Amino acid sequence: MRILAIETSCDETAAAVLETPGTVMSSEISSQIALHRPYGGVVPEVASRNHVVMVRPVVEAALAGAGVGAGDIDAFAATAGPGLASSLLVGNTFAKSLALATGKPFLAINHMEGHLLSPFLGEAGGIRPCVALVVSGGHTMLLHLRGVGDYSLLGRTRDDAAGEAFDKVGKMLGLPYPGGPEIEKAAVGGDGEAYRFPRSMLDQPGFEFSFSGLKTAMRYTLEKVVEPAAALPDLAASFQAAVVEVLVEKAIRAARHTGENLITVSGGVSCNAALCAAFEARCEREGIALRIAQRALTTDNAAMIAFAAAQKVGSPTPLDADIDPNLALA
Ligand code: KG4
Ligand code: ZN
Repeated sequence: MRILAIETSCDETAAAVLETPGTVMSSEISSQIALHRPYGGVVPEVASRNHVVMVRPVVEAALAGAGVGAGDIDAFAATAGPGLASSLLVGNTFAKSLALATGKPFLAINHMEGHLLSPFLGEAGGIRPCVALVVSGGHTMLLHLRGVGDYSLLGRTRDDAAGEAFDKVGKMLGLPYPGGPEIEKAAVGGDGEAYRFPRSMLDQPGFEFSFSGLKTAMRYTLEKVVEPAAALPDLAASFQAAVVEVLVEKAIRAARHTGENLITVSGGVSCNAALCAAFEARCEREGIALRIAQRALTTDNAAMIAFAAAQKVGSPTPLDADIDPNLALA
């Protein structure tokens, strides 16, 4: 079965064709980062206007890349939430129109379920019970995944998402948007112990996170730093070390709590090399298996949406179903 999925929840226009159970035939992403960079963040109106321009060429490129036409697709999927309302509407309407024109089913997909299941895409063993850490620009969640559709939330952030903290601190450090990859680059050669930033909520039981204190700590530190440019590698590495330690330790704690022997990591922040290295070292020491989403599947993409859709082909979504900017996962 071939699924065409469209992702337009935020600032990427993406389309992918997947052959079930998990062969990505094509995955196209048109990023709007350069358009939003002058504003230091995503501007919803700019995002939706650009999705309107790009959705058709991106879908056509995905079909061409897979060597198929719209008539060869068995189901059309689109992200229905969470995300920016006017952006979600573009991909949804396009996918529904294709479904209507071809008489094939439409599948509405939760963006976070796309991230959540992405570490299993291409995995021969299929989706297995695990503790899942989803770390993106909008969310930081620890979930207990027992099977497809059977998720319980162990904890989430009380304030900023981890990626959001990277982006805000990146701005404070004078780095371009988005801050995550820029901080990772700036941290190369820096000393992660040069500054001791707070490990928020690590001393408290449970699986909640908080990253706003870290942002404030960076602001106070910057006020005292005489030469911020010279201190940049150490500041970036120390900030990154604080975020990484909290994410890794809470995930390990959640694995012990649930008794699961597998941790998965996904979402935009999961392509951070320091985070991956720390997870690999800690999981090996604990004897816990680890699956981090393939790099191409970490930041927003439509292949992960198609893979989530592949799990739901038996229950199509009515064409009059609305998008939901606050769609919950668990
Ligand atoms: O999953 P994603 O593309 O979009 C959301 O659903 O939010 O995640 C984007 C987030 C941004 O905050 C970005 O700064 C962060 O992922 N990110 C990173 C890295 N690459 C992207 N954070 C840390 N290190 C990176 N290398
Ligand atoms: Zn995302």
